[in-house]
Amino acid sequence: MKKPGFHYSPPIGWMNDPNGLVYRDGLYHLFYQFHPDDIIWGPMHWAHATSPDLIHWTDLAIALSPDSFGYIFSGNIVIARESYGEDIRKDDLVAFFTHHDRQGFDQKTSRYERQSLATSSDGGESWRKFPGNPVLGNPGETPDFRDPNVFWHSPTQQWIMCLSVGNSAHFYRSSNLTDWEFLSAFAYPVENDRLWECVSLFPLRNKDTQETQWVLLQSQTLQGPQNGSGTQYYVGHFDGNSFSLDRHFEDYLVKNGAVWLDWGPDNYAGMTWENTADEPEKKLFIGWMSNWMYADKTPVANWRGMMTFPRELTLGTINERPHLFVEFAEQIGSIRKQEINVNESLVDRHKLDLPKELFTQGELELEISGLDNATLTLEFGNIIGNKFTINYDPQVEHMTVDRSLARQNSIDDTFNDVSRPIDITSKNGRLSLHILIDRYSVEIIANHGEVAMTYLVFPDEEFDQLFLSNNGTGKINLVGQVFPLETN
Ligand code: FRU
Repeated sequence: MKKPGFHYSPPIGWMNDPNGLVYRDGLYHLFYQFHPDDIIWGPMHWAHATSPDLIHWTDLAIALSPDSFGYIFSGNIVIARESYGEDIRKDDLVAFFTHHDRQGFDQKTSRYERQSLATSSDGGESWRKFPGNPVLGNPGETPDFRDPNVFWHSPTQQWIMCLSVGNSAHFYRSSNLTDWEFLSAFAYPVENDRLWECVSLFPLRNKDTQETQWVLLQSQTLQGPQNGSGTQYYVGHFDGNSFSLDRHFEDYLVKNGAVWLDWGPDNYAGMTWENTADEPEKKLFIGWMSNWMYADKTPVANWRGMMTFPRELTLGTINERPHLFVEFAEQIGSIRKQEINVNESLVDRHKLDLPKELFTQGELELEISGLDNATLTLEFGNIIGNKFTINYDPQVEHMTVDRSLARQNSIDDTFNDVSRPIDITSKNGRLSLHILIDRYSVEIIANHGEVAMTYLVFPDEEFDQLFLSNNGTGKINLVGQVFPLETN
């Protein structure tokens, strides 16, 4: 099986969550959950890759391997602001992770997850596990006690750790990265039956109000926006002790339910890069492009798993409520091979005259208008009849995506389900779509970052055509550019 072109995938073995994202000396570091010996989940390591441009990645030696405390589960990396004793030196990369004790898990003891750290003084090439590990044991409320995400909170001059604990996020504080004191917990609704994983918290300056607000990301395995896994977010305030929701954001949650970072099925356990220059206007994000419902059933060679294309997160306001905008990282522009203008008027159905290679690796930026009385379908397909369709109905302002016909033999029933309708407002009959295609995935961003939707798709043969259909009475206009992409 060929590799995707501009999405990260492991050289061999199994990959899940991104871990330890940090930018240092011109390189983006990506660590991730890795099982080197098989293409299914197993004893977790942290693998390591770096990239100067978020497109071309170099695989490096495994950073962290299981030890007597257990597997190495998810976590993040910070840069030490000063030396804290002999073992953590100023400017070291400090990796926080969960030690997951498999024996304890199998025997159903309640405290099999504890937090540990490791340091690197050579830019992530070699790692020393801290001799005082674990640095935070489980007090025992719930066995799920993992995925540390640490950051420096400058207003209160202390390190904060967010932790995913059962159905909630817990916050801890520390002055030296090794002694941690419990501060508070956040859950929404307070009573919920979801398992929270990979919680993280970061500030962003709202581009509309200029106010700095805090974004809390939280992944949940089984109750995402489509079948299975998904990442929800909350916007509010963090005062160095506890997180509270923005009033307008909470009103919206009460009326509409969860707000998702991505409304498709395949963006899970994502986190943001530490130490990029754009903060607090932007955060750079990457997610695991899969879903625990079928992650171990996707077609493979000797490797399995892909990351999303990196995304830029910014904060803005829609109807008074803070909203997270998601766009593809601008580096995608560096691999555009050719620019092709599109200008179409559509009354019924027709095939666009575009080069085939666009549908193997390509980018589409489309502005669609005239949707008042028309319904739009984009159908990516090939000669053997595989189809991936995106439908937009402006009357109800819903998008649905259907990959059930994209492959003859089903991977899994949950994979094949037609998407639950996704709310996307059409502004005066207009809709904008930004789409990336890379062999096994279609990533869709609507209305300039308002809604992101990520889909794995495994056609039997590569797509090579795009049909557009207008299922209404009006005329749709479609203008924009498309770009075949080239990765070498
Ligand atoms: C999320 C997750 C994390 C855990 C890791 C184990 O996908 O379940 O909570 O640390 O994967 O690989």
